[in-house]
Amino acid sequence: MKRYHIHTFGCQMNVRDSELVGGLLEREGYRPAEDIADADVVIINTCTVRVKAEEKAHSLIGRLRALKRARPGITVGVMGCLAQQWGEEFFSKFPHLDFVCGTHALDVIPGMVLRLSHGERRLSETAFRQYPGSLSSWCVPRSPGPTAYVNIMQGCDNFCAYCIVPYVRGRERSRPPGDVIEEVKALAAGGVKEVTLLGQNVNSYGKGLTEKTDFPDLLKRVSAVRGIERIRFTTSHPRDLSESLMNAFVEIDALCEHIHLPFQAGSDSVLRRMRRGYTAEGYLRKIDELRRRVPDISLSTDIIVGFPGERDEDFEKTIDLMGKVRFDNSFSFKYSDRSGTVAASFGDKVDEAVKSERLVFLQSLQRKHTLEKNRQREGMIEEVLVEGPSKGGSEDVTGRTRGNRIVNFRGDDCLRGKTVLVNITRGYAHSLRGEMVQRGEIPLCLSK
Ligand code: SAH
Ligand code: SF4
Ligand code: F3S
Repeated sequence: MKRYHIHTFGCQMNVRDSELVGGLLEREGYRPAEDIADADVVIINTCTVRVKAEEKAHSLIGRLRALKRARPGITVGVMGCLAQQWGEEFFSKFPHLDFVCGTHALDVIPGMVLRLSHGERRLSETAFRQYPGSLSSWCVPRSPGPTAYVNIMQGCDNFCAYCIVPYVRGRERSRPPGDVIEEVKALAAGGVKEVTLLGQNVNSYGKGLTEKTDFPDLLKRVSAVRGIERIRFTTSHPRDLSESLMNAFVEIDALCEHIHLPFQAGSDSVLRRMRRGYTAEGYLRKIDELRRRVPDISLSTDIIVGFPGERDEDFEKTIDLMGKVRFDNSFSFKYSDRSGTVAASFGDKVDEAVKSERLVFLQSLQRKHTLEKNRQREGMIEEVLVEGPSKGGSEDVTGRTRGNRIVNFRGDDCLRGKTVLVNITRGYAHSLRGEMVQRGEIPLCLSK
């Protein structure tokens, strides 16, 4: 039996794309290999959002040269955003590669693998399509877990000054709601309880479709699928966060009380140069409106430090905004030049040492806020969807609250996929600890 291994860098969209390619290969009889060294087909799913992401892919692909030399019969390919950006250039940089597949053509990978096995060499497919394969194809994993990602759109039309995503994922395309629902139904039938709807900018879902629809409407339709207990989504753009999406948190029971709303910077002049289309005050107003509807909503964000021209006083405004919102979690990055983006040509670049200093300061503040938020949960009863055993081989299981916090508690693996009530006993920096309080069928299962 032939085995495949896909190593994934980058965001949730890449994770979902890897799952899709894995599923397509499984349809052809391939089975997953735990380790790269045991695989007949090795695929690296790449990211290029920052220079570090690119370097990580470089280094792993370089290391595969030895593997290919030792076992020339294996197939080694790259997919994802860096594959899209570099295309055939990959073959001159890494002559041991067999194929390069861009972000629109994932569905052709099994065919490429087959052609390579018939003696063809160096195949590449990086053209953009009117409708990308990552939206037109899907398959339910052979043994799905309780949570799953579902693509609802691909690409981005926003062209934030720093960002390479629109160039490597292409123009924004929405997937017809009927197709989304069909996939969600199939996942629910396979035991999935929670779906995360994915898109770079979910607020503009529906643009360009013949059927008139929008994101809140899609959420309602997904929530009506039997078996789906929880819905999450990512990412929404603060500029486009509509009243009706905010109302959806109140109207749709299955929609979890968590939103990832990247603000990027707290200074209006930086935001203007980033081309984000909102001000700090506008962002804070949206947060107030969200909290007015759902006081306990959990908030996470993305932040960039050291965007070209960012002065100390600009950075202070980012810190001020964090203090005003007190995010539950944040992902923060040093600005990194991406060739072809508008910001790459901006002067007044910030010194690396200054960027590092700002990042360290910001991240330590976030740690304080996260700990404070997690401690506030102590004594509360949370609804937790159990995802499986905790890491580290203890007798604990792990799951997430509706607010997207990780909770560990004593429990048997047969709780996997069940939604239980947990009394939070302790809040830590990265997770919560608790005790299951639910009675009913579950203790029976525990005493097996
Ligand atoms: N579509 C999402 C996220 C896209 S990329 C959104 O619009 O929010 C994820 C995050 O990477 C961004 O939110 C941003 O914080 C960061 N990022 C993107 N380009 C970057 C760059 N050139 N340098 C540093 N961080 C960057
Ligand atoms: Fe990049 Fe901006 Fe699009 Fe997000 S909205 S993917 S940051 S261009
Ligand atoms: Fe990276 Fe592409 Fe995602 S550049 S962050 S993998 S959309």
